[in-house]
Amino acid sequence: MRLNRFLARSGVASRRKSDELIAAGAVRVNGEIVADAGRSVEVGLDRVEVGGKQVWLPRGHEYVLLYKAHGCLVTRQDTHGRPTVFDQIGGLRPGTVAVGRLDQDTTGVLLLTDDGELTYRLLHPSHLVEKRYEALVSGKPDATDLLALRQGVDLDDGPTSPAQVRLRGGNEHESRLEIIIHEGRKRQVRRMCAAVGHPVKRLKRLSFAGLGLGHLKPGQWRQLTPGEVRALRVRAGLGAAD
Ligand code: URA
Repeated sequence: MRLNRFLARSGVASRRKSDELIAAGAVRVNGEIVADAGRSVEVGLDRVEVGGKQVWLPRGHEYVLLYKAHGCLVTRQDTHGRPTVFDQIGGLRPGTVAVGRLDQDTTGVLLLTDDGELTYRLLHPSHLVEKRYEALVSGKPDATDLLALRQGVDLDDGPTSPAQVRLRGGNEHESRLEIIIHEGRKRQVRRMCAAVGHPVKRLKRLSFAGLGLGHLKPGQWRQLTPGEVRALRVRAGLGAAD
């Protein structure tokens, strides 16, 4: 789609005013100022900004994959003024929510979307979405601890479902565990590890529903590709997005 048409359709300005904005150097595509109003943009792939704010087409849904940084809260607004993932991304549509939560101290994959049907399905326990974590824990879990984590540990809100757990390295003081769970209870991985006597020192989500971090760095994000959206919706038992 031509850039001036994209701006007009996204409600920024009329086509003529959009041409003026472009000529004035107020429009960036993928970080670069673009002076050619006829320049083509790939909807859903190219990042278009006007005056430093990202603009979107109103139709269709938004699907964003964020590498959540340490210390950021997964909430729209924090009463104490702490940084949130919504500040980090900026320009998200009002209806866009995080699909599940990560604790303030947890880093890694966080999906955000305004596709309510998909969010509902991905969070529903019957869909068994896979969440893969890397946990740095205190001490060295022995075979009994690992078996307990795999089979299910008793938490105050009930036993956990079977998990895949691998010891990836470490020493007597601290160890790296890879943990795959399908539930999404509050602070679940931290509580599971604490329950077997190895509290978490650092936690990172490596993937969610098959979506990994790729080349993203903490704080960076990208739009899902149309193929990723399709795969995600099929996985959740839905058809193509509107
Ligand atoms: N489990 C946790 O303990 N914390 C998270 O943020 C995610 C899973």
